[in-house]
Amino acid sequence: MKHIFEKGSDAQKNTFLLLHGTGGTETDLLPVAGMIDESASILGVRGNVSEHGMPRFFKRLAEGVFDEEDLIDRTKELYDFIDTAAHDHAFSRDHVIAVGYSNGANIAASLLFHYQQPLKGAVLFHPMVPRRGVELPDLTGLPVFIGAGTNDPICKPEETEELSKLLQQAGAAVDVHWESNGHQLSRNEVEKAAEWYRNLK
Ligand code: MLT
Repeated sequence: MKHIFEKGSDAQKNTFLLLHGTGGTETDLLPVAGMIDESASILGVRGNVSEHGMPRFFKRLAEGVFDEEDLIDRTKELYDFIDTAAHDHAFSRDHVIAVGYSNGANIAASLLFHYQQPLKGAVLFHPMVPRRGVELPDLTGLPVFIGAGTNDPICKPEETEELSKLLQQAGAAVDVHWESNGHQLSRNEVEKAAEWYRNLK
């Protein structure tokens, strides 16, 4: 997958897996990662699907209606890519924390839905429920931060609650932060994610 890797100043630390929103690129979330922990390593990835030229991590049939088969295939593609990248760039596979926005948050959530402990943690800005009617793997203790908007027309509050509940039922430690905003990523929610991250250690 097209990506950038930047080794952090402390190689023992975490690697942020940056996953952009629809139409984004592997560099979009660099400022966000810097606000959360500027000494972490960075693996910024570009989604392999093109929707009228806009990169995404998986296909959709309509706004909010996912192509489930493609979602499953692309989730595996990303999972395998993380393994390969950890080998190629010599970072610890056990210290990968996803930072995703919108479509990127959805594929990060999909990793959590399909693989056991696929990440050390996840920061999900404006995620949706990636799939319904499946049993989640054991996510005991896995820390998840969700940034949500009470007026988000794409990731509606009920869906945020549903996602949070599903992850919690699988054992994840979920913190939801609400902003009275829409779908945009706000500075304040990134600051809250940074606070959450500092408390992890
Ligand atoms: C998605 O398709 O993943 C969601 O609708 C979010 C988006 O990318 O707009």
